[in-house]
Amino acid sequence: MKQTDFLVIGSGIAGLTYALKVAAACPDKKITIITKSREDETNTKYAQGGVAVVNDLENDSFEKHIEDTLIAGDGLCNEAIVEIVVKEGPERVNEIIEWGANFDKNSSGDFSLGKEGGHSEFRVIHYKDVTGKEIERALLDAVHKQPNIELVTHCFVVDLITQHHLGYLITKSTPDIECYGVYVLNLLTNKIEKVLSSITVLATGGNGQVYRSTTNPTIATGDGVAMVYRAKGRIENMEFIQFHPTALYQPGVNNAFLITEAVRGDGGILRNIHGEDFMHKYDPRLSLAPRDIVARAIDSEMKITGTEYVYLDCRHMDMQKFIHHFPNIYDKCLESGIDVQRDMIPVAPAAHYSCGGIKVNEYGRTSINNLYACGECSSTGLHGANRLASNSLLEAMVFAHRCYLDSIEKINTISFEAKVPDWNAGGTTAPKEMILITQSLKELKQIMSDYLGIVRTNERMQRASRRLDILHEETEQLYERTEVSPQLCELRNLITVGYLIVKGASFRKESRGLHFNTDYPQKSALVQNIVL
Ligand code: FAD
Ligand code: SIN
Repeated sequence: MKQTDFLVIGSGIAGLTYALKVAAACPDKKITIITKSREDETNTKYAQGGVAVVNDLENDSFEKHIEDTLIAGDGLCNEAIVEIVVKEGPERVNEIIEWGANFDKNSSGDFSLGKEGGHSEFRVIHYKDVTGKEIERALLDAVHKQPNIELVTHCFVVDLITQHHLGYLITKSTPDIECYGVYVLNLLTNKIEKVLSSITVLATGGNGQVYRSTTNPTIATGDGVAMVYRAKGRIENMEFIQFHPTALYQPGVNNAFLITEAVRGDGGILRNIHGEDFMHKYDPRLSLAPRDIVARAIDSEMKITGTEYVYLDCRHMDMQKFIHHFPNIYDKCLESGIDVQRDMIPVAPAAHYSCGGIKVNEYGRTSINNLYACGECSSTGLHGANRLASNSLLEAMVFAHRCYLDSIEKINTISFEAKVPDWNAGGTTAPKEMILITQSLKELKQIMSDYLGIVRTNERMQRASRRLDILHEETEQLYERTEVSPQLCELRNLITVGYLIVKGASFRKESRGLHFNTDYPQKSALVQNIVL
C-alpha cells in the first residue's frame, strides 16, 4: 500500500503540467504520476498541428479566437469557459516554453503561425509537424528534475476508491461521493495495489480506440471516463466524437497516421476519387471549414463515388516549404509509396477526439469530492458540439493550471482514509482464452464504426444499443470470474464508453456539431448538455 498527497493518472500534457505546478508550489508534498504504458505513450506525443493561441495582437484578437471557438462549437460552448481558455492561454504557453518546449519562429523571430479549419486567422504555434512530441519531451525533462515527483510507468489504474469500497451503497444521487485513491494493476508484478491519495487528478486522455479507425494510439481507451461512471460520477456530451477529416488511408491499418489540417491551411486541396475539388458543394470555407463539416463532406463523397477514401492534393504546393513544415508527413508518405510532389495523398476520416467526458467545473472539479479531471478526458464546456482545431492542447494547459490552483487550497483539509480494504481477487482464475477479449473488442469497434460514425440514424443507434447490451453482459461475467488484465479492463472501459456515446446520441433529438442524425436533421431550439 502506498500513500501520496497528489495522485495524477496520466503522463500527457494535462497530467505533467499539473504535476509540475503542484510540485513547485508544494515542495514538502509528494506527487505521484501513474501511467499504464511508457512515460511518453500518450495522445499528446502524436499532436501535429500545434497550439491555437492569440499572439499577434496586430492581426488577431482574443475576440476572434473566442468567436471561432463558439462557431465551431455550434451553439453548445460555455461562453465563460471559452473566454477563460482563450485569455489565459498565452500565459500557459509561456510557461511550457520556460520548461523548455520549442516552437518554430520566422526570420523576424516571431512565432511561425499556422492556420487550421474554422480559424479566421493564422494563430497556431507549432514545432514542425511534431508539436506534441516536442511538448511531451520538454515536460518529461522538467518532471524528471523535480525531486518531489515520482513517475511510475506500466501501472494500470483499474478503479477509483470511494465509499463503495467501504461497504456503502452509492448511487447517482448520493450527495458526497469521496475519492480516496485508486486500485492499480502493477504490470510488472501482475498484482493489484492500493494507492491512497488526498487529491486525485484524472488526466487519462481520449477514447478513439472505441472505433475501428482512429488517429489515437492504443492507450486511448476512455479509462478515466469509465472509472468515473462506475463510481457514479457525472459524464457529459459523449456523443460528440470528432472524426478528423484527413487520416492517411491505408487498408487494414487501424491506428491511422494523421495528415495535419495545417497541410490544408498551407494550401492542400481535397479532391474526390475522380480528381474533382468537391468542397465548394458543401461550404464556402472549402477545405478549411470546421472539422464536422469537412468530415461529413468527405463521408458523402466516399458514398457517392463508392470508395473508402478521397485525396489530399499537395502537388501544387511549394515543396521546399512543405518539407520544412511537414517533414514527418513527407517521410511517412514516402515510406508508404506516396511522393507528395507527384502523387495525391489518399485520406479518410478517422475517430480523433472526444469533446465530451468527465463533467468538471471551471476549476476542474468533478462531481466526486477530491477528484479532479483535466485534458481530453474532461468536459469543460470549451468545445461544445465540435472542437476547434488545436484548442485541445491549450485547454489541457489552462485546466491543469486551474486544477492546481483549486487543489493546493484543499490539500491540507483532507486526510487519508484508513479503512480502505485491499483489492479482493477472490473467486477469480487466470484467463483461459484471450480470444474472448480480442474478439469482443473487434465486435465493439465494428458496432461503433458502423452505427455511431459520422452519420447516425435512430435505427442504427437502436441496433448498436442492443448489441452493446450483449457485449456488456458477457464482459461483466468474464470480469467477475477472471483475474484482472489490462486487456480485459480496457475492453470493459471501452464498452462503457460505447454505451455512453450511444446513450448521449439517442437522447439528443437533433443534429448539432459532430452529432448528425438523419432522423432529426435540424438543430433543436432546446440547447442542452446531455449529462449521464
Ligand atoms: P494524453 O496525452 O492522451 O495522456 C493520457 C495519459 O493517461 C497517458 O499517459 C495514458 O497512458 C494514461 N492513462 C490512461 N488510462 C490509464 C489508466 N487506466 N491507468 C494509468 N494510466 C492511464 N490537439 C491540439 O490541440 N493540437 C494538435 O495539433 C493536435 N493534434 C493531434 C494529433 C493526433 C494524432 C492526436 C491523436 C491528437 C491530436 N490532438 C491535438 C489532440 C491532443 O493531442 C489530445 O487531446 C491531448 O494531447 C490529450 O492530452 P491529455 O494529457 O489529456 O491525454
Ligand atoms: C491536426 O494537426 O490536424 C490536429 C489538430 C487537432 O486535433 O487539434
